[in-house]
Amino acid sequence: TMADHLRKFEQLFTLTPQRMRMIVEAFKETLALGLSQPGQIVPMIPTFVFGYPTGQETGEYLAVDLGGTNLRICLVTLQGKGEFEITQSKYRLTEEQKQGDGQQLFDFCAQCLKTFIDTNYVDEDGKSTLSEGQVLPLGFTFSYPCSQERIDHGVLIRWTKGFGAGDTEGRDVAAMFNKSVDDLKIPVKMTALINDTTGTLIASHYVNPRTKIAVIFGTGCNAAYMERVGDIPKIKNLGIDDDAEMAINCEWGAFDSFKHEHLPRTKYDQIVDESSNKVGEQAFEKLISGRYLGEILRLVLCDLIDEGVLFLGQNTYKLETPYVLETAFLSLMESDPTDELLMIIGIFSHFFALDTTLAERQFFKALAKLIGRRAARLSACGIAAIVSKKNYLEEGCSVGADGSLYNKYPHFADRVHEGLQDIFGEKGKNIITHHAEDGSGVGSSIIAAMTKIRKDAGK
Ligand code: BG6
Ligand code: GLC
Repeated sequence: TMADHLRKFEQLFTLTPQRMRMIVEAFKETLALGLSQPGQIVPMIPTFVFGYPTGQETGEYLAVDLGGTNLRICLVTLQGKGEFEITQSKYRLTEEQKQGDGQQLFDFCAQCLKTFIDTNYVDEDGKSTLSEGQVLPLGFTFSYPCSQERIDHGVLIRWTKGFGAGDTEGRDVAAMFNKSVDDLKIPVKMTALINDTTGTLIASHYVNPRTKIAVIFGTGCNAAYMERVGDIPKIKNLGIDDDAEMAINCEWGAFDSFKHEHLPRTKYDQIVDESSNKVGEQAFEKLISGRYLGEILRLVLCDLIDEGVLFLGQNTYKLETPYVLETAFLSLMESDPTDELLMIIGIFSHFFALDTTLAERQFFKALAKLIGRRAARLSACGIAAIVSKKNYLEEGCSVGADGSLYNKYPHFADRVHEGLQDIFGEKGKNIITHHAEDGSGVGSSIIAAMTKIRKDAGK
């Protein structure tokens, strides 16, 4: 019966508190290793973003954001006192752009940027409002692992989240972006290259100074936090003051890659991995992020179709294409409020031409819940590792969070919080996630402003 099947999947996808604590321990060791030696699987990237903003940063900045669902161009006005205004345009990337030539991808970013400036910096008569020789400062949020030697530079370690544009890995993407901008003679100067997590950490702290960690739960999953330079052994040789603070982009999505020693991977997770463009990589992210959750459910359903359990006598070919079942469907399934589960009827009939019984729909909803809950609880393990490394448990802290999963997936935040309590007991309640305000746009603007202040001060 469906109930028997559900029990089997409950066992596969449920994480006990004890198992979670084991994952946290392994995670802590991984974080420490990444800080002590360069080139580790979880690279713990020093970002050259020094400390938190004061909240007094002001001015007008452009931001380009590549790496979430969309390419975004933003114009941000920082008003000080933790306040800001933002105007933005979004552009959808095509699969060809993601997989094609790297320089062309940056050319497209530059074209969108040019269009944005041409439409936003004009008066009523269509004349440019920029003065002769004026150059606009710009922050570039590029949300892939890049190793940095300074704030306006970054060598792409590897693509993640299904990107694969050629001739880009191993190269300085800041230089590639600048070339595209120069080719079009756009009057901007890119002053900071940042990761979305770093941006979120800074933007979140700008409005809520209790923020000590930032996490993105979107197409990918990753975290950033502030570390004491003296506690980052691998950059001792740079001669930076030990007591200075620097944001670390963990790139924790790579946790447990290749060896797969610590995470509970099901056969469905293995298929997701093996059919990805980066086999073995981003092992943690593949269990958590929005890019993969729908696919995990789809693979479970395909398995049950093969076993002759589901959709008997119907043509299931539409469901058999990889990635057709999007994570957004899981969100809808979980939030279906009707007894008949009408939304789920709609999804399956409309998108996959399949009829469902009520028992099947209840089963799908339960499966979505198992997969979504596992993702949230695994994320809690990552947060717990940073909290325990930094001793944030007693005094508590806020975790700035953003991304489609966090913002749209029902109960995601509650499940993270529940996970933290399973790991830490009552004290887990001291760690609270909150929605962070636009890390990429606002965060990169604040970082561009902080960079300018440091530069003016001769640092
Ligand atoms: C946005 C953040 O809301 O979420 C970005 O402002 C981040 O910083 C993005 O990159 C990630 O989410 P998704 O779901 O688009 O991958
Ligand atoms: C992936 C990227 C990382 C980014 C995250 C969230 O994990 O590698 O840089 O922060 O997705 O967008």
